[in-house]
Amino acid sequence: TRTPVNVTVTGAAGQIGYALLFRIASGHLLGPDVPVKLRLLEIPQGVKAAEGTAMELDDCAFPLLAGIDIFDDPNQGFAGANIGLLVGARPRGPGMERGDLLAANGGIFGPQGKAINDHAADDVKVLVVGNPANTNALIAQRNAPDVPADRFTAMTRLDHNRAVAQLAKKLGVTVSDVKKLTIWGNHSATQYPDVFHAEVNGENAAKALSDDAWLSDYFIPTVAKRGAAIIDARGASSAASAANAALDHVFTWTNGTADGDWTSAGVVSDGSYGVPAGLISSFPVTAKDGKFEIVQGLDINDFSRARIDASVNELVEERDAVAGLGLI
Ligand code: NAI
Repeated sequence: TRTPVNVTVTGAAGQIGYALLFRIASGHLLGPDVPVKLRLLEIPQGVKAAEGTAMELDDCAFPLLAGIDIFDDPNQGFAGANIGLLVGARPRGPGMERGDLLAANGGIFGPQGKAINDHAADDVKVLVVGNPANTNALIAQRNAPDVPADRFTAMTRLDHNRAVAQLAKKLGVTVSDVKKLTIWGNHSATQYPDVFHAEVNGENAAKALSDDAWLSDYFIPTVAKRGAAIIDARGASSAASAANAALDHVFTWTNGTADGDWTSAGVVSDGSYGVPAGLISSFPVTAKDGKFEIVQGLDINDFSRARIDASVNELVEERDAVAGLGLI
């Protein structure tokens, strides 16, 4: 039998945690033949609810689930972690300015980054889901100087999946017919879903659409504001779809992308496409041998350039704000 993979999940008692843990334990994170040990990290007030979730996980008798431990100390929670899913974050409260939000999250992701640096396994891979995801990932990465920077990623796969679904619906095709769509920039309302390199059944998607008005007036805002629309309709934020995207992100990272396709992920910029090196920005990426690679050499038209720049500028502002607060 294989050695179980240690998967640390923060915010385990939250709503994404509840949608995520059962699917991790049933093989949807790493594959149907990889046993996992769950390490649930919560704040002290969340521990009891996490214990309840752990009871339910026991009650599923998942053959792949090799153990569950619960912690409220990041140094213990990340000990030996091969995969870290950083879901728990501080939400924006009433009257909270952006600086307050960044500072509160710096107080979470700084220590978690340090705990990963000091205690995680050598092969640790980190996905930050908790918002503001890109900048939280940057804070964690900068607090983990001994871990290769490319092990820290931020989740834009939910945006990617939303964009694929919208495009497929518009063109009357299935989601599997859509390839090479890209989310650029920040996981925020400025993100840019790009169809200019996307293919639908082998045909260029922008050509198949030939409808720029639909792109700017419907598609881009619908994808970017989908989170708010879900809250409006459901009375709670996206949880099952966010959990699903986290599984997709890690599964792709570890198992690779298909030939002739790519996905979107927030990864450390190497300066490609004019994105300042070191920022954690969403790019088109392929995955192979457990590594993401930024897809190179795409032509960026003026329509895309302006939108990528706007979202990247927001990331620069967030980086400068957390640097000003001494968080990185
Ligand atoms: P939630 O409020 O239901 O759960 C958050 C959990 O995190 C709570 O149980 C809380 O006790 C825990 N927590 C807070 N601070 C913690 C810490 N320092 N260590 C460990 N646990 C901690 O929130 P939900 O709905 O599960 O969402 C979690 C995060 O994911 C939010 O920041 C949300 O904005 C973000 N999100 C990101 C998406 C993306 O596409 N990147 C999509 C949807 C949500």
